[in-house]
Amino acid sequence: MKRISDACVQDIIDRAEIVDIVGDFVKLEHRGGRYWGLCPFHSERTPSFSVNQDKNFFFCFGCKKGGSPVNFLMEAEKLSYPEALEHIAHKYGIDIRYEQGSVDSAKDDSRGELLELNKRIAGAFNYVLLNSEEGARARLYLEKRALSRETLEKFQLGWAPEDPFWLGRFLKAKGYSSDFLSLTSLFSKKYPDFSFFHGRVIFPIMDPRGQVVAFGGRLLEGDGPKYLNSSESEIFQKGRNLFGYFQAVEEIKKTARAILCEGYMDVISLHQAGVCNAVAPLGTAFTEMQAKLLKRSATSVMLSFDTDSAGQQATDRAALICEKAELECSISQRGELKDPSEVLEKEGPGILKKMMENGINVMEYFLQKASGLDAGTISGKTEAIRSLFPYLEAIGSEVRRGLFLSQVAKRFAVDQHSIEKDLRAAQSGRPFERVKPSVISEEPAPNRDLYFMLGVAAHRERFVDVRVAVSLDDLEDGQAKGLYIALEESFRNDDASMDAFLSRIEDPRIRTMVMERMASGEFLLNEEKFIADGIKALRIRALERKNEDIKRSIALMTSDGACSESGLNDLMYEKMFLDTELARLKGDRE
Ligand code: UTP
Ligand code: MN
Repeated sequence: MKRISDACVQDIIDRAEIVDIVGDFVKLEHRGGRYWGLCPFHSERTPSFSVNQDKNFFFCFGCKKGGSPVNFLMEAEKLSYPEALEHIAHKYGIDIRYEQGSVDSAKDDSRGELLELNKRIAGAFNYVLLNSEEGARARLYLEKRALSRETLEKFQLGWAPEDPFWLGRFLKAKGYSSDFLSLTSLFSKKYPDFSFFHGRVIFPIMDPRGQVVAFGGRLLEGDGPKYLNSSESEIFQKGRNLFGYFQAVEEIKKTARAILCEGYMDVISLHQAGVCNAVAPLGTAFTEMQAKLLKRSATSVMLSFDTDSAGQQATDRAALICEKAELECSISQRGELKDPSEVLEKEGPGILKKMMENGINVMEYFLQKASGLDAGTISGKTEAIRSLFPYLEAIGSEVRRGLFLSQVAKRFAVDQHSIEKDLRAAQSGRPFERVKPSVISEEPAPNRDLYFMLGVAAHRERFVDVRVAVSLDDLEDGQAKGLYIALEESFRNDDASMDAFLSRIEDPRIRTMVMERMASGEFLLNEEKFIADGIKALRIRALERKNEDIKRSIALMTSDGACSESGLNDLMYEKMFLDTELARLKGDRE
C-alpha cells in the first residue's frame, strides 16, 4: 500500500457526501431539515442519530459519536484512515493517485508483504492440520477437546510440523528470500532456517478485518512453554488486538454484548458451544485499547476468566477497565470448573451456553468479595470497605458512584458519608496520582466565553470577522481560548474540511460539544446576530477591564504626589478614548 497523494485525498474528501455514505448503512428519514436514523454505534429504538447534509457530517445525540464521512466509515467498517479514503474513492469511481516515492510507502509495502506472508503461513499450517498425516496427532487432540472440524476451519487453526526447518523450506519454495524471512521474527537470529513455531497447534491471531497479524502456538505435551506467541511487530500490537474479535464481531454487534475470557482455547470452546461473542486478550491483562475496541460494538461485557488466583486478579483488573470505559460489566459463575474450555469438555455445549446467559453484576461481585474480607471486627470491616476504593474510583458517573456507595453503606451498616470521607482522605494521601478520570470525563458547563466560541466553531466561516474584533487575550476561559486557537490555526492553514478543523481541537470533550452544537442547530436561527452580539459583549468586557486598569493607575499616580504631568495626561487621554468607544458600543446595543 502506498500513500495517497494530498491532492487526491482532497478530491476524495470533497466528493464524499455524508447522506450517501451513511445511507449505505443506516435507513435515513428526512425530518426538520435533517436526516434521522437509528444509530449504528449503539442500540436504540428511537432515532437519535442525525445527518446534516449541508455541513456534511453526522452526530448521534445518544452516544455522542460524530464526524465526517471518513470518520463514519472508519467507525462503521473498522477501517483505517487510508482504507476509508479508498472505500470512498471506489464508491465514487475516483482514480486513486499515490505519492511518488513517499517515505511511508516503503513501510506500507513491507506491512502488506508481512500480512501476505502470514496469510500464506496460516493457510499452510491449516492445510497440514486438516489434511495431512503429520497433523493426525493434533487432530485427535483437538477432537478430544471437543472441537469440530467446522470450528477448526472457522478459526483457521493449524499444525506446525515437528521439523523446525519445515517452515523455512516451505516459504523458500514459494519464492521468499532469506533476507525477507529474517525480518519476520518467525526464525531464530542465530540459525535463520530454524522456525520457532514447530510441533505446535497454531492459533492465527487476526485483526478486526480478518488479516492474520500474529500466531499463538500450543505444545501438545512435553517440555517448553505451553504457548508461544509472535513478538510484537509493525503489524501486531498485543494490547490493541483481541483474539477472536474478527469471528465474534457480527454477534457482538447483534447482541451489543461481548464475553471476555482468558485464553485461545476458551474463545474457541465458547464459539463451539454457540456462544459466538467470545473474545480474549492475548495472554496479557485486558487493556484500555481493547476495551475501546469492544466499545465500538458492545455496551456490555461478561468476564469469564479462569477461576485460579491469576484469573481472579485478571477479573478485578478487567472489571475496573470496563467501568472506566463505561462498559456494563458482569462476571460469569462457573463453580469449580476452571475455564470455559473445561466446561465444554466435561459438561458439554448445552451447559456451557446456559452458564454464559447470566453473570453477576459487577457491583454485586465486588460487594461479595469485600464481604468475604469482613471478619466481623471493626478493622476487618474497614479493610473490606477499603478494598472497594479502587472500584469506587473507577466509576465515572456520580449517579453510579452514589448508587454503589449506598449499597456498600447498607451492606456493611456504616454511614455513607464516612465512606466518602475515607475515600477522599485516601486519595489526598497520594498527591502524585493523576486527577480522577471521573473529573476529566465530565462535560464542562459552557460559560459565556465558551458558549460564544462554540457558536463560532459551528459557523467557522464567520471566524474571519471574529478574529479581527476579538483577540485571544479577550477571552477569559481556558476552553474557549483552546477553541480560538484551533479556529485560528484552521483559518491560517485554510482547512477545507471539518475533519481537519476538529482534529485541531485538543480536548475531546470540546470536540464533542462542537459537533453537538452543529448537529442540534442551536445557533442556526440567527447566527449573524449571535456572532455580532457576542463580539460586542466581548469587546465591551475587554474595554471595561482596561478602563478599570487605567482608573487604578490614575488613582495611584495622584495619591503618590510624585506623578509626572505628561504620564497622567496620557492616561487621561486613553481613558477618554475608552469611554467614548464604550459609549458607542453600548449605544449600538440599545
Ligand atoms: P492457559 O494456561 O489458561 O491456557 O493460559 P488455555 O488457553 O486455557 O489453554 P488450555 O485450555 O490449557 O489448552 C491462558 C492464555 O494465556 C496465554 C495464552 O494466550 C493462553 O490462551 N499464555 C499462557 C501464554 O501466552 N503463554 C503461556 O505459556 C501460557
Ligand atoms: Mn485456561
